[in-house]
Amino acid sequence: MSGWVLGIESTAHTLSFGAVRSDGTALPAAIDTIRPTEGGIHPREAADHHRDVAATLLDSLMEMHDLALTELQAVAYSQGPGMGPCLQVGAGIARALSAAHEIPLIGVNHCVAHIEIGRSECDCDDPVLLYVSGGNTQVITRLDGRYRVLGETLDIGIGNMLDKFARKFGHPFPGGPVIERHARTYLEANPDASLEGLELPYAVRGMDMAFSGIMTAAVAMVHRGVPFDAVCWSLQEHAFAACVEVAERAMAHAGKSELLLGGGVACNQRLRDMCTIMAKERDGESHAPPRMYCIDNGTMIAQLGWLEWSSGRTTSLAESAVNPGLRTDATPIAW
Ligand code: ATP
Ligand code: FE2
Repeated sequence: MSGWVLGIESTAHTLSFGAVRSDGTALPAAIDTIRPTEGGIHPREAADHHRDVAATLLDSLMEMHDLALTELQAVAYSQGPGMGPCLQVGAGIARALSAAHEIPLIGVNHCVAHIEIGRSECDCDDPVLLYVSGGNTQVITRLDGRYRVLGETLDIGIGNMLDKFARKFGHPFPGGPVIERHARTYLEANPDASLEGLELPYAVRGMDMAFSGIMTAAVAMVHRGVPFDAVCWSLQEHAFAACVEVAERAMAHAGKSELLLGGGVACNQRLRDMCTIMAKERDGESHAPPRMYCIDNGTMIAQLGWLEWSSGRTTSLAESAVNPGLRTDATPIAW
C-alpha cells in the first residue's frame, strides 16, 4: 500500500469517489448515478441520494484498489460548477475527512478536471477541449495561464438536449446512449442516408451554439410521422456538426493541432469519429479518454487535486465553500 489522493465528484446526478496514487497513477472510480424514473433531476433528491450511498461507495473504492484511510494524503472535491445541494454533499465529506485525518483539502474546478484527466490519459499536451456533457457544452483551450472558454452553448447543454428529446418518447435518463443506438440502427438500414428531408435547425452563432431549437424541431418531426430512428440520426448529425465546427474554428484561431474530447456525450462513437475526421483534415490529432473518464468521475477530481497539491495549492476551510457558478477560467493553471 502507498499514499493516495482521494477525489470526490458530486456536481449533479453522480456521486463518485476516485483516487490517484502519490506517484500520479490514476485508479478507476466507484460511481453511483441517480436515475429518476420520470422527469429531470431534482437537486435535493440527487443530494439525498449522494448522502445515502456515500459511505458504501467510498468503501467500495478502497476495496477495489486496496487503499487504506491511514495512507490518505489529501482530499480533493468538486467545488463547482454544479447544483448547490449536490456540491455541498461532496464538500461536506471532504471537509470531514480532511479534519479527521489532518490532511490537506483541495477544492477543484470540475470543468478543468475533465481537461486534466484527458490530458494525462491521452498523453496530449496543449489541446482544444470539446467538453460535451449534460449541463455543459464548451470549447476550451489554454491561453495566458488559464483555460479560456472560446465558445459555448447559449441555452442548454447538448446532453440535456439529448436527454430531454429521449424522455419525450419514454426513454429515461440517460437518453444519449439510446439515441446513439437508434441512430446506428437507422444507418445500418440506410447506409447511404442523406439529410435531405431530415433537416433540423443548425444553430452556430459565431463561436457559440444553441440546442433548444433543434430539440423542439426534432420532437415536431417525430410527431409529423418521420420514423424515430431517422430523427435520432439527423439530430446527432446536426448537433455534433455544430460542436465540431466550433472546435475546428477554435483550433484555427488558437493555432493548436490537438483536439481532446471530454464529458459524457464524448462516449458517443459518431462524435468521436467526426472529431477524428476533422482533426485529420487539419493534419492534427483527436483524442478521447476511456469512456469511464468521459462521464463524471471521482478520478478526474483526484487527478486535478493531485496536480494542484503537487504544485503547492490547497484550500483553507474559509475558502472551501462551494461555487455553483464557478467559471472554467477562474482557475489559474499552476502546474
Ligand atoms: P456536467 O456536470 O459536466 O455537466 P453531467 O452531469 O451532465 O456533466 P456526464 O456524466 O458528463 O454528466 O454526462 C452525462 C450526459 O452524457 C447525459 O446527458 C447522457 O445522455 C450523455 N451521454 C452518455 N453516453 C452518451 C452517448 N453514448 N451518446 C450521447 N450522449 C451520451
Ligand atoms: Fe462533467
